[in-house]
Amino acid sequence: MLINTNEKILIIGAGGQIGVELTENLNRLYGSNNVVVADLKPSAALIENTFEQLDVMDAKRLFEVVKKHDISQVYHLAALLSATGEQNPMFAWKLNMEGLFNTLDLAKEKHIAKLYWPSSIAVFGPTTPSVNTPQYTVMEPSTVYGISKQAGERWCEYYFHKYGVDVRGLRYPGLIGWKSAPGGGTTDYAVHIFHEALKVNSYTSFLSEETALPMMHMEDAIRATLELMHAPAEQVKIRSSYNVSGLSFTPKELAAEITKHLPNFRITYQPDFRQAIANSWPKSINDAEAQLHWGWKAHYDLPKLVENMLSNLKSKV
Ligand code: NAD
Ligand code: SER
Repeated sequence: MLINTNEKILIIGAGGQIGVELTENLNRLYGSNNVVVADLKPSAALIENTFEQLDVMDAKRLFEVVKKHDISQVYHLAALLSATGEQNPMFAWKLNMEGLFNTLDLAKEKHIAKLYWPSSIAVFGPTTPSVNTPQYTVMEPSTVYGISKQAGERWCEYYFHKYGVDVRGLRYPGLIGWKSAPGGGTTDYAVHIFHEALKVNSYTSFLSEETALPMMHMEDAIRATLELMHAPAEQVKIRSSYNVSGLSFTPKELAAEITKHLPNFRITYQPDFRQAIANSWPKSINDAEAQLHWGWKAHYDLPKLVENMLSNLKSKV
């Protein structure tokens, strides 16, 4: 169903794991002629849309793209994630913060009307209560990625209160989808495992068997994003970023569910540096505020997610 508005949307980092699926959904809602995609380089998955080569740290070029297409809304997805961030901490800080400031400033100067910027469960740290982690709690992130997301949340709230910027965000958990590949996070094992299960019937997990983490099917994540962006402004009471919960599981539980479909599937464990990152994050998330303010509810549980991933990837892998 097409929404009949004058909105022109720019997705920055559109070639990534979320961007590819978000583009597809925004095309359906607004028409691909109203959705411009930007990234460092073109992606074969984005052929329907006008592509702009853009480094989000280049404020002048970003401004040119926004003016050229008369953009009214930006979804800013470009970032370095938790695992790649730890390989290059100062660059992760630079990219994650400069990109956010450049897009926030566009909204502050009224060149765009609305900005979406995702945060992460990485804003939490080892001192955070790890089960059913609430929206408001101790937050002492231990990765540069988490520090950049926490700082970003504070700046979003600041720009909302100080300059009236309509900025909205979600603290995504690990996202699992079959249409696009993940880009360097600690939760990526929960996507790779499906590809390897179908290819070679086995997988070596870089997280230990009992590592529980919050996760979400990509369809739920995109729906949450669009529900938040379409909610009336007065319902969006949190401008830093909302907790959103999907499901939680360990590698062992995920493997057991896969084995119901592929009885010979075997998992082994070789934890690496990502184990310490995972240990510092919550096991499950309380999203009472998102439920209350704009009616959030996830659809996917573990059996449904595994069935969906395996059946869709079967023909792809
Ligand atoms: P990704 O790594 O898959 O995609 C990021 C995209 O940004 C890539 O296509 C990359 O080429 C592009 N990019 C990198 N540097 C750029 C630059 N300087 N200018 C323009 N584009 C640039 O990431 P993703 O998983 O799609 O995540 C998108 C956002 O969602 C990020 O902010 C991430 O922190 C957040 N997030 C993702 C997850 C997840 O599980 N995928 C969870 C929590 C939060
Ligand atoms: N999936 C992301 C990561 O692992 C969470 O922000 O980095």
